[in-house]
Amino acid sequence: MKVTIDGQSIDVEPGTTILQAARMIGGESVPPAMCYYSKLKGSGGKCRCCLVEVSKGSEADPRPMPKLVASCVTGVMDGMEVNSVSSERVTEARKSVTEFLLINHPLDCPVCDQAGECDLQNLSFKHGKSQTRFIEEKRTFEPENIGPNIQLHMNRCILCYRCVMVADQLTDNRVHGVMDRGDHSNISTCISKAIDNEFSGNMIDVCPVGALTDKTFRFKSRVWFNKPYDAHRDCPTCSGKVTVWMFGDEIQRVTGRKDEYHEVDEFICNTCRFDKKDVNDWVIEGPRKFEKDSVINQNNYTRKLDKVVIETEKNILLGRDEDRKKISMTEIDYNEGIDGNLIDPKHG
Ligand code: SF4
Ligand code: FES
Repeated sequence: MKVTIDGQSIDVEPGTTILQAARMIGGESVPPAMCYYSKLKGSGGKCRCCLVEVSKGSEADPRPMPKLVASCVTGVMDGMEVNSVSSERVTEARKSVTEFLLINHPLDCPVCDQAGECDLQNLSFKHGKSQTRFIEEKRTFEPENIGPNIQLHMNRCILCYRCVMVADQLTDNRVHGVMDRGDHSNISTCISKAIDNEFSGNMIDVCPVGALTDKTFRFKSRVWFNKPYDAHRDCPTCSGKVTVWMFGDEIQRVTGRKDEYHEVDEFICNTCRFDKKDVNDWVIEGPRKFEKDSVINQNNYTRKLDKVVIETEKNILLGRDEDRKKISMTEIDYNEGIDGNLIDPKHG
């Protein structure tokens, strides 16, 4: 199936969503995603950050879709044409969604451990307004202690459901769902029931904001002062492949390995995450490379570059190899023509 996003076309398998197709293309056209998480089944469709405009439905039915659609839950059709970053409507919608998400989210960044790797912070940086129109009091919740390892700040939650899906899909208790309604909605009860499970720490990695943070790392450092390294250990529970965040010789935090979309490659167990903070516990592989453009990666993130193809007429390149040989001063066989055949001495 052929789909075109911001003028860039790609062939994808049936069943691919617009967001997945955009990620295959990469670059600026990839819509932001606060609730979709490719490793969690059924995620997406909650935050509306990933809205795009479908200007042509398909080859068979080219009518445009009247409303913007959530790209993470909308499948591509053959011949579909989509506008993401190239659409003013989409830009306006992303601004509105950002404003909406920030209505109840506290301005905690200076004291929040997630600062520097927070998806909402990045979203606000790109689409946020510098002023608020909200004069009502922000929604607040009573603090709830959910155990020694995970810190819950329900005030920061944007109800993306990712942690609920971790509880549902990685632990053996089906304790998912949102309690209460409207601005009273919260997920805390479900979390505290699943917290004993060996994989519950992954809720920290999937949480796009600072609502779930690592208690063992709390207020130890700003994340941009840490140096991330890929490391592994022989773990009987998970793959043992992690990123360790170091300050000098000290491992201050252990997380899953996150990609450019801030999603972990593999979920890791609580023992690796919370209990293995000694350098001798790990085989350090080398510095972790980041492809996500954010505060934490200033000056050290890497981007996938488009492959540049220069189309040149064949004849223009005639003689180039000969030139190269001369420039590099390699021994040149002057009896050899540029076509590789021996030159006939009679004709030169
Ligand atoms: S606590 Fe975090 S992961 Fe869970 S619903 Fe709220 S924002 Fe999403
Ligand atoms: S990422 Fe699509 S609705 Fe949240």
